[in-house]
Amino acid sequence: MISDIRIFPTHDLLAQSLADDICELINNHAGKDSFFSIALSGGKTPDLLFSVLGKKYNDKSLWGNARFFWVDERCVPPGDEESNFRKANDLFLAKTGIDQKQIFRIRGENDPVIEAERYSEVVSDNTSQKRGLPSFNLILLGLGEDGHTASIFPGNEKLFRSGRICDVAVHPVTGRKRITLTGPVLNNAENVFFLASGINKAVMVKKILKGGESETRLPASYINPVEGNLIWYLDKNAASLL
Ligand code: 6PG
Repeated sequence: MISDIRIFPTHDLLAQSLADDICELINNHAGKDSFFSIALSGGKTPDLLFSVLGKKYNDKSLWGNARFFWVDERCVPPGDEESNFRKANDLFLAKTGIDQKQIFRIRGENDPVIEAERYSEVVSDNTSQKRGLPSFNLILLGLGEDGHTASIFPGNEKLFRSGRICDVAVHPVTGRKRITLTGPVLNNAENVFFLASGINKAVMVKKILKGGESETRLPASYINPVEGNLIWYLDKNAASLL
């Protein structure tokens, strides 16, 4: 169920508005007995969002109740330029001064199979449960030009039926391994914000948002929160074919 499609003139305005919305979500959650769990995606799209959060919303008190996780991670060490953790940490988290205990990094340097098991337990132990599965308060997703999201690539849709919380995936082009949250967990979130910007995403955005059943279903089209809100954040270019 799509709750809303929000289109912004520029990527910068998208990032500013999204940062405001995330902080409003966390503020509205303040005072509730539980923490606010947020799972971050990687890739390039969120970089501007992380920069805005790191500059405009770096007040530690804002994030006192937040727990940060990752939707997926490349199987590289945390200092690697490919690391999804490194970018979010350098651009945003390190600037807030929040306690390291609030940051639950996927250890890309570990053996992938062992780390998928370990991170499944970390997620299970440190998020709320709904319907027998971890339920994040907010998941930020990106969209690949091939229709992947998280690290669930075309041909790997079985990860939307996985009985695991995390699994190992393989990038179809580079062959490099990744750890990813599985589809049932992604669809168990309270809020899913899907980010896409740039003209290079326009074709895929149209396929996902306007594509008929006849088209081979693409991983991003399987994102349909069981009870949560799904909001798309698009810049004008990514939305240009809608
Ligand atoms: C990753 C992401 C992945 C990303 C899309 C879009 O680890 O790469 O989690 O799902 O969101 O590939 O990537 P860009 O934002 O770089 O286009």
